[in-house]
Amino acid sequence: MTIVKVDLKSTPYHIHIKPGLLQDIPDMLAPFARNGRLLFILDSNVEKHVWPALKRQCEAASLILETFVLPVGEGAKSWDHLEHLTDWLLSHHTERGDSIVALGGGVVGDITGFAAHILKRGCGFIQIPTTLLAQVDSSVGGKTAINSKAGKNLIGAFHQPAMVLIDPEVLVSLPPRELAAGIAEVVKYGLIDDAEFFDWCESNMQQFMAGDLVIRSEAITRSVSAKARIVAEDEKELTGKRALLNLGHTFGHALEAETGFSDRLLHGEGVACGMGLAFRYSARLGLCSEDAAQRISELLARADLPTTLKQAGCDVDGQKLVDHMLHDKKMSGGTLPFLLARGIGETFLSADVDLADVAEFLNEERAR
Ligand code: GLY
Repeated sequence: MTIVKVDLKSTPYHIHIKPGLLQDIPDMLAPFARNGRLLFILDSNVEKHVWPALKRQCEAASLILETFVLPVGEGAKSWDHLEHLTDWLLSHHTERGDSIVALGGGVVGDITGFAAHILKRGCGFIQIPTTLLAQVDSSVGGKTAINSKAGKNLIGAFHQPAMVLIDPEVLVSLPPRELAAGIAEVVKYGLIDDAEFFDWCESNMQQFMAGDLVIRSEAITRSVSAKARIVAEDEKELTGKRALLNLGHTFGHALEAETGFSDRLLHGEGVACGMGLAFRYSARLGLCSEDAAQRISELLARADLPTTLKQAGCDVDGQKLVDHMLHDKKMSGGTLPFLLARGIGETFLSADVDLADVAEFLNEERAR
């Protein structure tokens, strides 16, 4: 078992990573079960694929289980579902001493974490992420949220889990497109500040895609270690350090908005295309080499991720995409902080990007 510490001053916690960890989970959860009871929040996909085996093991360990099943997809991160979930938790006499378990992808983790944050002014929660994207990104760092009419993740809170339990073996039941979406976030850590990890991703992408568990575990461990380090430095995204985790997200958010935040373009697919655009824009500004931008597109393409506007289904006027960016929650004081790069592993935050020039660049990109 690999253990990574998220070294926060007030709420430190550990991330446990091991293929087959699901079998150890009842023992690991037992100390968190008040009066032997655990409250699991999952979605209907997880209920089919991961839950049956885990349920059997928990019951064999004499744990009392209560489950709340959310519908699959982003639509579950709504006020309505939050109300149902919090009503259900209250009707089950959930107390601050309980630990609510989020078993699923980013949607389940985000709404469960937010419900735990507001219920009785803060209950404990545990993340058991079952998608690659949740394992390497959303389950770590305490960002929790639901969506509102005005946009994604606009109603939320920082609420750190008590622990994160990651079993890379559960990824076998993940649809290939969802797996690829998570790979975008893995590659992101190399692009931010670890060129050697980007090289490692290039060397190991084939084995990762083929399901090699040693390689998958290493990719997850290196990703969460990077995230833990960055979150420990800037938990609440105040200094600019944690903002580096948004690489590719400003372009990606615009692409997701253009495709209606739907399964026409998954979040990780938007991020992949957004990272390609961020590096090509950096190259256009003379900040990094064309070669670096090309290497990134080639690696993401090997993971079956979109790297051009056409592939992302967004062959539209550049100004339209810039208009989406202006609604981004990262807007601050009327400007949009942009993540650019001087090379692979050399991402930085720029406050003075000319959005008219970005629109022109996006129009040039339509020819790809
Ligand atoms: N996913 C970006 C962050 O956790 O800050």
